[in-house]
Amino acid sequence: ASASVEHFAPSNIALCKYWGKRDQALNLPVNASLSISLDYLGSFTRVEPVENGVDEVWLNGHQLLPSSRFSQKVSAFIDLFRRDQDLHFKVDTRNNIPTAAGLASSASGFAALTLAMNDALALDLPPEHLSVMARMGSGSACRSLFTGFVEWEMGVREDGLDSHGVQLEQTWPGFCIGLVEIDAGEKATDSRSGMQRTVETAHLYQSWPLQAAADLSKLQQAIAERDFELLGQTAEQNALSMHATMIASWPPLLYWQPESVAAMQKVWQLRAQGMQVYFTMDAGPNLKLLFQQHDRAELLQHFPTLETVEPFGN
Ligand code: DP6
Repeated sequence: ASASVEHFAPSNIALCKYWGKRDQALNLPVNASLSISLDYLGSFTRVEPVENGVDEVWLNGHQLLPSSRFSQKVSAFIDLFRRDQDLHFKVDTRNNIPTAAGLASSASGFAALTLAMNDALALDLPPEHLSVMARMGSGSACRSLFTGFVEWEMGVREDGLDSHGVQLEQTWPGFCIGLVEIDAGEKATDSRSGMQRTVETAHLYQSWPLQAAADLSKLQQAIAERDFELLGQTAEQNALSMHATMIASWPPLLYWQPESVAAMQKVWQLRAQGMQVYFTMDAGPNLKLLFQQHDRAELLQHFPTLETVEPFGN
């Protein structure tokens, strides 16, 4: 193992969500999903070998207890790379996005860690295999290996080697994402247990794979034709359908805060006034707005604290 290496991976926002696993150990999804990577927002992860026989995990400048859930998850993930070798690492991750607020920082973190381990151990894995590795850390991380629009092909193999991200060739200058931060605190139920609860207890979940498949093809069409209305409608309906399955779980899973609902209503009001703005949400209270560059200035008047990203420039 070589000296210190550092890699960046972007966060990604799903337009068609990954919700539910057909294999929990390998993070194999029930449905294919499609995301957009957030350009410069994500995680920087540095890895260096240590001699003291245990992994050290640092997050945003603080060392975590080896017994913490996140440290254990990271160590278990490094096991996939070191196999039986007696090697240990210091892993230092810095996010330039709020951690665990539904802004998918675990996705960028595991993607950056995958790139760093590939370098540290000189594995020279091809991109699709890196995506497979990242997926085993956190499902959505397999999409953060790529920029722009990324599809996570669900695959059919039991070993999961065909379940990974694939970058779409299309770009979309002027396409904007806006982050509406409602609450940057740690969420109560993480995606892993939230989706498991939904799969096990919500009858409504039976219709989810059909919804996701239909939405995925609409999104592919919208991206190919640069049809913003089709993209926005599909993404918003997909997110709300996912949340409907969460709410229909037991015990119920509601990630929304009153401020989340107020923000949704503001979006609907702006649409009623003719603006093309849509939202999506993940397993947290924050909204991610989808809009185009020419509406940015006006949108900022309604959401003054909006952090905006243009993945393809304008
Ligand atoms: C709602 O990838 O965090 O953000 O595979 O258990 O680590 P694990 O789950 P994770 O789930 C993300 C769920 C989501 C939707 C999405 O990003 O597609």
